[in-house]
Amino acid sequence: MIHQLVYYSRNTVPGGDRAMLTNLREIVSVSQRNNSRDGVTGFLIFDKTWFIQVLEGERSQVTETYARIGRDTRHSSATIMNVRDVPNRLFPNWTMGGAMRTPEVQEVYLQHGIGGAIDPARLKSEQILRLALDLQAFEQAKRQGQQLAS
Ligand SMILES: Cc1cc2nc3c(=O)[nH]c(=O)nc-3n(C[C@H](O)[C@H](O)[C@H](O)COP(=O)(O)O)c2cc1C
Repeated sequence: MIHQLVYYSRNTVPGGDRAMLTNLREIVSVSQRNNSRDGVTGFLIFDKTWFIQVLEGERSQVTETYARIGRDTRHSSATIMNVRDVPNRLFPNWTMGGAMRTPEVQEVYLQHGIGGAIDPARLKSEQILRLALDLQAFEQAKRQGQQLAS
């Protein structure tokens, strides 16, 4: 079985869009290195106020990773939305994918009924998982487009 954990937390790093994107890229890059070592996969949603992350893998690895993330001062008040065992990974090909909420992906949020600010306390983890899967598909399509163009 695969252990799956979904949590949200509040961003503590101030800055404009560019600084926020740099921050996210740094987090994702270190996460990809560590998670490929630890057999952890998942997705990180970032709307500039909130992080919402899905972590999946072996129970001990997910627990250790979450404990490490919880000590990070780049965010605060990490709150677990759901933890469960599932038969399969949702993000088998992503050691950590990340998407910042930009006008470009607004359409994806709208498709999930999120037009304005996110209130993570009112979201269900199932909703988050579906949003994360669609954001991942959007990122994937964008990358493939870039590869074809280059
Ligand atoms: C929102 C958020 C999500 C993170 N996700 C991960 C993750 O999935 N995996 C990971 O190893 N570190 C993640 N980190 C980074 C960890 O908090 C920590 O900085 C890092 O694991 C330390 O790695 P190092 O000991 O190799 O420098 C995340 C940090 C933040 C703020």
